[in-house]
Amino acid sequence: MVTPRPVFDVEYYKKSADYIKGIIGDFKPEIGMILGTGLGKVAEIIDAKFVIPYKDIPNFLVSKAPGHKGQFVIGTYEGRNCIVMQGRFHSYDGYHFEELSIPVRVMKLLGIEKLIITNAAGGVNTGYHPCEVMIISDHIKFTGSSPMRGPNVDEFGDRFFDTTKLYTPEYRKIAVECAEGSGLNVHEGVYFFYAGPQFETPAEIRAERILGADATGMSTVPEALAAAQCGLPVLGISFISNMAAGVSPYPISGEEVEENAKKVEPLLLAYFGKIIRALP
Ligand code: HPA
Repeated sequence: MVTPRPVFDVEYYKKSADYIKGIIGDFKPEIGMILGTGLGKVAEIIDAKFVIPYKDIPNFLVSKAPGHKGQFVIGTYEGRNCIVMQGRFHSYDGYHFEELSIPVRVMKLLGIEKLIITNAAGGVNTGYHPCEVMIISDHIKFTGSSPMRGPNVDEFGDRFFDTTKLYTPEYRKIAVECAEGSGLNVHEGVYFFYAGPQFETPAEIRAERILGADATGMSTVPEALAAAQCGLPVLGISFISNMAAGVSPYPISGEEVEENAKKVEPLLLAYFGKIIRALP
């Protein structure tokens, strides 16, 4: 069954934000974080002042993935006031693209000034290796939908907005500089959004490579677009959890993604912490 496309206005998002404000009071989150495999642990190690389950927030999305935590963790990390999404939403879960704007717009209404989005991704660039990192310089999304489809919510920005510097150049530079001494190989490259949930075919990966992709994954881009429209600077970080389909002779598995993430988790966490300290 196809559910009708939802239509939201600013009041819709304010209802979620006002509920959260009622809990956090004077606490003002500066950095929003949507963290994927490899860096999810940040939500466990931040000095949490408030934990707010998504299911309690009016008009918010509810995690559909079984066993996944679905909550905002709000507190301080590396001396910065942060709001971290522990559990995120994907189009392959069955959400409309339009719904994927909700978390970012709610965090914007809470006053965040910057957004960091991380993910696990497959390496498309044959010079990459599993357990490396790619700072996202740009993206390609050919899936014909957008979180901004439908009536424009003018309070969040222009109908037609520029994405030339979506992944904030200053943040990219800092993230690349922080790689020094991290023990990680850090690249900068183009992220290809693939709707999933199946992994790509080898032919699709060859096509992605011809089109200019360096890594491929199923998240990040809807949120990054929502952030770009409302003027939030974005840092995107991909953890290369595996080589994409057809690059290595082995089939890709969700287990490989998890195992590789576990292997380098301490290095990733230390690298991430350094970036947070260095951001303006
Ligand atoms: N493809 C798409 N998404 C992914 C991959 C991949 O190879 N690895 C982790 N997320």
